[in-house]
Amino acid sequence: MVAKAFGGPEVLTVIDEELPAPGPGEVLVEFRAIGVNPVEYKQYGGAFGTDESTLPLHLGSEGAGIVVAVGDDATGPSGPISVGDEVVVYRGSGTYAEQALEPASAVLPRPAALGVQEAAGLLLTGTTAYDTVETVGVSDGDVVLIHGAAGAVGLLAVQLAKLRGATVIGTAREVNHDYLRSIGAIPVTYGEGLADRVRDAAPGGVDAAIDTVGTDEAVDVSLELVKDKARIVTIAAFGRAAADGFPVLGGGNPASAALRDRVRPELLDLAARGEITNVVAKTFPLADAGRAHTELKTAHPIGKFILLP
Ligand SMILES: NC(=O)c1ccc[n+]([C@@H]2O[C@H](COP(=O)([O-])OP(=O)(O)OC[C@H]3O[C@@H](n4cnc5c(N)ncnc54)[C@H](OP(=O)(O)O)[C@@H]3O)[C@@H](O)[C@H]2O)c1
Repeated sequence: MVAKAFGGPEVLTVIDEELPAPGPGEVLVEFRAIGVNPVEYKQYGGAFGTDESTLPLHLGSEGAGIVVAVGDDATGPSGPISVGDEVVVYRGSGTYAEQALEPASAVLPRPAALGVQEAAGLLLTGTTAYDTVETVGVSDGDVVLIHGAAGAVGLLAVQLAKLRGATVIGTAREVNHDYLRSIGAIPVTYGEGLADRVRDAAPGGVDAAIDTVGTDEAVDVSLELVKDKARIVTIAAFGRAAADGFPVLGGGNPASAALRDRVRPELLDLAARGEITNVVAKTFPLADAGRAHTELKTAHPIGKFILLP
């Protein structure tokens, strides 16, 4: 599934492509489930530029499946990779496919206790969430405000912050409040009056804020409630972070890339042990990726969207 032009979901198309045998350090993976992330529609929507020489865009950086061929020296972060291994891929490329060649460095064993769909969509959001809690230094006893707590990154940030002993206040639509309570967060509705609702929920103050939404409201409320700007982070408000001087995270930043690579096995372990849960909201056939993206852009059910080849 590729984007043959820049634009809306209509630019997505299924193509047949002959793949060469894996070269040194490469692995051919047959995908059984593929994680969907907003970055993919942003990519073909032109958010990162519209250089036509990059077309067609091969989309997707994560998924889970089985190894069907390996090149020489195919050693992944957790050891040698063999044909037949059940694996999780992240930071891979072109995972919106039945099969794709992936660098061995992006291929990790899937723990037997972790379902293929849950694993397929865990690592982009999980490593991002880990990066946010690490950046703002969440520790035992902290009160942490998470904007977009019911989103895919937000849900994992809530759970990782709880594991570190924090009290978590999470913004979400009313319909998602019961779920947030079930994972130990205090839900508040976003929109007009948000700062006061957070103050009511946290009379002792807020130590840190994690923004996964990128609205001015999320940034303004964070700046109003958190004293130390180093303890505010965003993954979406790039302009505001630069203008207001607080951390912003992106996978392209070398420190973030290294952290995200390093924490992959820990996240897979936590999920396999049931200490974190990656909810699968909905599955779509791979050929319906455009429909998945259209739904993901608007209010949607809690959890991850997964494509099935
Ligand atoms: N910089 C990075 O490294 C990085 C990595 C991953 C993702 N991202 C970006 O982070 C963002 C979130 O990604 P995601 O995968 O978590 O997406 P997602 O699953 O669609 O979650 C976004 C959530 O935002 C909430 N929301 C919508 N409007 C809101 C508002 N006005 N105020 C507060 N919350 C609101 C929604 O929750 P309700 O349903 O409760 O309204 C929704 O669940 C995307 O822009 C993505 O591209 C950046």
